[in-house]
Amino acid sequence: MPKQVLVTGGAGFIGSNFVRYLLQTDPEVTIINLDALTYAGSLENLNDLPDPARHHFIHGDICDRPLVDRLFHEYAIDTVVHFAAESHVDRSILGPGQFIQTNIIGTFTLLEAARQAWLTEKTVPIEQVRFHHVSTDEVFGSLAPEDPAFTESTPYAPRSPYSASKAASDHLVRAYHHTYGLPVTLSNCSNNYGPYQYPEKLIPLMILNALHGKDLPVYGDGKQVRDWLYVVDHCEAIWRVVTGGQSGETYNIGGGNQPTNLEVVHTLCDILDELAPTSPHRPHRNLIRFVQDRPGHDRRYAMDITKIGHELGWRPRMSLTTGLLETVRWYLDHPDWIEAVRKGSDLQKWLERNYAQRGGNP
Ligand code: NAD
Ligand code: DAU
Repeated sequence: MPKQVLVTGGAGFIGSNFVRYLLQTDPEVTIINLDALTYAGSLENLNDLPDPARHHFIHGDICDRPLVDRLFHEYAIDTVVHFAAESHVDRSILGPGQFIQTNIIGTFTLLEAARQAWLTEKTVPIEQVRFHHVSTDEVFGSLAPEDPAFTESTPYAPRSPYSASKAASDHLVRAYHHTYGLPVTLSNCSNNYGPYQYPEKLIPLMILNALHGKDLPVYGDGKQVRDWLYVVDHCEAIWRVVTGGQSGETYNIGGGNQPTNLEVVHTLCDILDELAPTSPHRPHRNLIRFVQDRPGHDRRYAMDITKIGHELGWRPRMSLTTGLLETVRWYLDHPDWIEAVRKGSDLQKWLERNYAQRGGNP
């Protein structure tokens, strides 16, 4: 069983939820959390961790090979759970360079360090090691309404700089397994939502804008479909794969939900109408504004999660209705987190840049 776990990107949205989940779930594990604290990462996401003595935060870059080598040795790392990435599709359209650096070169750097430590220097017995790579459903491209959901054998067809960089990193991870025998697993997951999500992404952005009476910018016709998954369900699935998945295998993870973006935004507005009855901006649906579409916008994603269900007994627990309600509640209950994240990042500048060109007014 894993003991010394290097989590990359553990100050980001999913990574910080994973750190919290793992400290709660597995009393044997020590976490070494390597994060560069880009605009998307924040120590505010790691406040109030359960059993914080088992969590070591390292401020650093996954592309820094000497640093990564040192961590493998100093902490006798036996397991890597690799979240660190540039994750926002819109940013990859306006500036793809950092996506190539972090998502491809960063993954390559970690793989090389793992190969050196585990296969050459044998710092830990090979039967005890695992490199888990967290990827996305976006590598499979876009579905038409009548298409079946993506399976693990759907051919790759990434269509944005973000998804192309994730596809490249997936291929590298598989290549290190086939060529060098590095023990790896991969998971490809659909859209996550829940606490600590940076408010550039659809759901937190809509909640915060609605609360402040700002426009709710819906791209194109709003009929794009995403397969929403509550983030804690994702964390549970990843840990199942790390501890029970077959080396060399890939597992799809998804929520089994396929609302249109507009339906999601309507639901959030209705929840806010109820939870914020004194809001001067009710009904919040009046704030919706259709803006220029994302270039190359994928129309629909959907995940077939049969494999992880059969092999590892995982399925999502949270319904979308309850999950969205919980999420809105969480943002309403955490104004300090919102303020700290706003102050510590480029959020307002980014929103102005992104929505100015779309005809929106964030
Ligand atoms: P995020 O943008 O919220 O967090 C990314 C984290 O990585 C941040 O803490 C950031 O500081 C850190 N980071 C970035 N570059 C780094 C570098 N060079 N070195 C070290 N740390 C660095 O992302 P997220 O939404 O939590 O996504 C995490 C992972 O899950 C990503 O690999 C993403 O591709 C994948 N994923 C995300 C979703 C989703 O819906 N959010 C769905 C499927 C897969
Ligand atoms: O599918 C998994 C992917 O989900 C992850 O790999 C990515 O890291 C993650 O960012 C997410 O990508 P999306 O592009 O789907 O997420 P985003 O929240 O940016 O957008 C969700 C949908 O909402 C998408 O169809 C675009 C649309 N949208 C988004 C924003 C920010 C809007 O209509 N308006 C907006 O303001």
